Amino acid sequence: MQTKVFLFFSVFFALSCSKGNNETVALIEKNLELAVEQYKAMDLTVADSLFPRSTKPDGSLMTNKSWWWTSGFYPGSLWYLYEFSGDTAILSAAQKKLKALEKEQYSTYDHDIGFKMLCSYGNAYRITSENSYVPIIVNSAKSLLQRYDSTVRSIRSWDDIGDTAQFKVIIDNMMNLELLFWATHQTGDSIYYYTAVEHANTTLANHFRPDGSSYHLVSYKPQTGEVLYKKTVQGFADSSAWARGQAWGLYGYVVCYRETTDPSYLAIANKIAGLLINHPNLPADKIPYWDFNAPDIPGAKRDASAAAIMASALIELASFTDGNQRKLYLAHATEILKSLSSDVYRAKTGENNNFLLKHSVGHLPANSEVDVPLSYADYYYIEALLRLKKTLK
Ligand code: GLY
Repeated sequence: MQTKVFLFFSVFFALSCSKGNNETVALIEKNLELAVEQYKAMDLTVADSLFPRSTKPDGSLMTNKSWWWTSGFYPGSLWYLYEFSGDTAILSAAQKKLKALEKEQYSTYDHDIGFKMLCSYGNAYRITSENSYVPIIVNSAKSLLQRYDSTVRSIRSWDDIGDTAQFKVIIDNMMNLELLFWATHQTGDSIYYYTAVEHANTTLANHFRPDGSSYHLVSYKPQTGEVLYKKTVQGFADSSAWARGQAWGLYGYVVCYRETTDPSYLAIANKIAGLLINHPNLPADKIPYWDFNAPDIPGAKRDASAAAIMASALIELASFTDGNQRKLYLAHATEILKSLSSDVYRAKTGENNNFLLKHSVGHLPANSEVDVPLSYADYYYIEALLRLKKTLK
């Protein structure tokens, strides 16, 4: 009798889980199909050489040229949407944008070349295996190497190469390491891999506080590598947890663990995830305030971009864990994606300058891009939807 009752509940539980999964997959597919339509419409509004970035204060579309740090996200979103839909209009829009980005392979003026070239060309190569993309991505990795310094054992984020006053590294820079890992896979040359590892170790040693939150900026003395100061630029306070910075750190160390299987990277990723998931200032819908310690909570602006990055990172992190931790990460990422897909955050077709998500924050202390759509919020939202779909199927 006991065995029959156990069997009944096991079957009932399995059926309700698969019904829940089916509903989530349907929601994901609906949102991706809508995204294909929105991005096809967006493509018609942008000149070939420009990249959608956000919305201007007057409500019109804000674009940027290829040098700006966000230029890879729109092409990357197009590639993901082509992968999902096979739609040839999306493919030709994506190819057009690669052309406009090509010259950035040689840019050495900041660390953002990983964002620019791996989100765009990296996805394009993964999807098409087009060989002509390989040297462009490898050149991009070479450009990033030029910003590495063996005394500081880091890649310089901002400021010109050769600046002797200070050497600035921001937590966001963790996101550019994937380009280096990619280059070692492709070329067999371990210089890229070891540079990424050095940077990740230096950041691990200096950016994190005991609770797992991170400083935005650490400035080093170039001659010795000693830490000069730690502060914020885009967050509320030097000691606060700027939401997108926490998301970059989480995503960056998940990638580092995937590429190296170094347990210290998994440990910090789990620690950041625990902090973010259990944070007392995380709102019920799981979309963080732009800074976890913003002074005007609960009135503070939300940052959909931080939420989307966290969701995508948590889904990958779940694949390196098991049991309740895996369930927790997937459940949290699913809740984020359901909130982002609701009318509160998800724009209707034809609105929001055809961006998918509303309510992100770029740089609040500079009063720049506050409560707006951002191309990278859309990119990580699409990536997270695709990752979750793959996990559930
Ligand atoms: N620098 C990248 C960001 O604003 O998150």
